[in-house]
Formats: sequence, structure tokens, C-alpha cells
Amino acid sequence: MQLINLFCLALAGLVAASPVQKELAERQNQKIRIMPLGDSITEITCWRAFVWDQLADAGLADKVDYVGSQYSNPQNCQPKTFNWDQSHEGHSGWLAIDIANSYLEGWLRNTPADIVMFMLGTNDVFRGRSTNDIIAAYTKMVNIMRAANPKMKIIVDLVIPLSFGNQGIEQLNARIPEWARSMNSTESPIVIADCYTGFNAWSDLRDGVHPSLSGDRIIADRVGPLLLEYVRQALDGR
Ligand SMILES: *[C@@H]1O[C@H](CO)[C@@H](O)[C@H](O)[C@H]1NC(C)=O
Repeated sequence: MQLINLFCLALAGLVAASPVQKELAERQNQKIRIMPLGDSITEITCWRAFVWDQLADAGLADKVDYVGSQYSNPQNCQPKTFNWDQSHEGHSGWLAIDIANSYLEGWLRNTPADIVMFMLGTNDVFRGRSTNDIIAAYTKMVNIMRAANPKMKIIVDLVIPLSFGNQGIEQLNARIPEWARSMNSTESPIVIADCYTGFNAWSDLRDGVHPSLSGDRIIADRVGPLLLEYVRQALDGR
């Protein structure tokens, strides 16, 4: 009798444990979702592809997904990894201010993310928007990201230079470090990818605004290691 009871208890234990184990297995199989967010410097460039090569070289390509409403390779980038993920949230000509006010919330609802990496502000500078307004848009975007996912890991890029009228870019970049520190948190960290220092506004741009291949390499070299670190943390933390 006692043996039978024990047997029944053990069986009940197995049955009870299996959904938990299933859920754990499902969580561990879920890919880490990365949103490349930005303007044309994200859409019509190759750094996304070169960062994917870094993920592949680190053995992480099958553990991650790029996410976003867009899927394209307009520059016909040819990274080492032929089947790199072309999803992204880069929108040519768009302002940080408009993305913050009207779009990001819906994008993150449609394609949820664990990591957002963004470079934005170039078009705001073009249109004469103030540094204060751009930084306010950054704050709004981070709040939207955290409302969508309290554990969002965020990479913010220092913006690459323009070959003309670079003052607004420099003013924005000068504000980003203090802004990022003030918004930083343990649960939802923010790190800065310095895509500005050492970026040559002539040889690393192909048209005065968009990176040439050497410029794409610089952006990928600055963003990639931070992204790999975030992906490893996200994989460890579940
Ligand atoms: C945010 O905090 C993390 C540690 O939690 C740190 O590694 C990172 O550099 C901080 N970011 C900024 C912009 O200070």
C-alpha cells in the first residue's frame, strides 16, 4: 500500500514537472531578438550584415533574430554569411523625434525585441531640430522600449559625422554620454557604441552622409562587440 502511494506520488510529480520543463525548454529555444533601429544609415548600409558575420563567427547566429517591420538589403551587401538576417527597423529620411512620437511603440508591439541598437538624429540635425529636442526624443524612445520590455538591453550609437555642417552632430554626440548614464539601469542597461571617433567624414562616407564600406566596417566594429556581450548576457540570464 505504502509502495503504491509512493509510486502514485512520484507519478504525480512527473506529470506536474513536465509543463515546467517544457516551458523552460521553450524559453531556452527562443531566439534573442535584436532590433536594428535607425534611419538610412541603418537601412541602406552594410554594417548590419557585417555585425551578423560577427554573430556567426561567435557561434551565435542560430540563437538570434534581427527583428523589425523591414526586410531588405538595398546595398546588395555581401557579408561572409550568405543567409544573414535582413530584418531591420531602418527608415530612410526619418527623424528621431517622429519615430519617438508616432512609430516606435507600434513597431515594438509588432516585433518585440530583447535588444535595441539604434543610431538616430542625423535627419533631425538636417532639419534644424535642437539638440534638446533630439535628446528628449531619445528619452521617450527608451521609455517606450522599457514599457514594451522592462529588461530591454539598449545600445545607443554616437552618430557618424556628416561631411558638411557637422556642428549639430557634434552637439548631439557631446550630450549622449551624460544622457545615457542618467537613463542607465541594472535591469535595462544602456551602453554607447562610439561610431564617431576616428570616423573619417570623407573616406568613410560614400556621399557625404552614408558610410562607405570602410565606414560600415567601423560601425560594425564599434557596435558588434557590445551586441555580442549583450547576447551572451541574455542567453546566460534565462
Ligand atoms: C550602464 O551600466 C552598466 C553596468 O550595469 C555599465 O556597464 C555601462 O557602461 C553603463 N552605461 C553608461 C552609459 O554609463
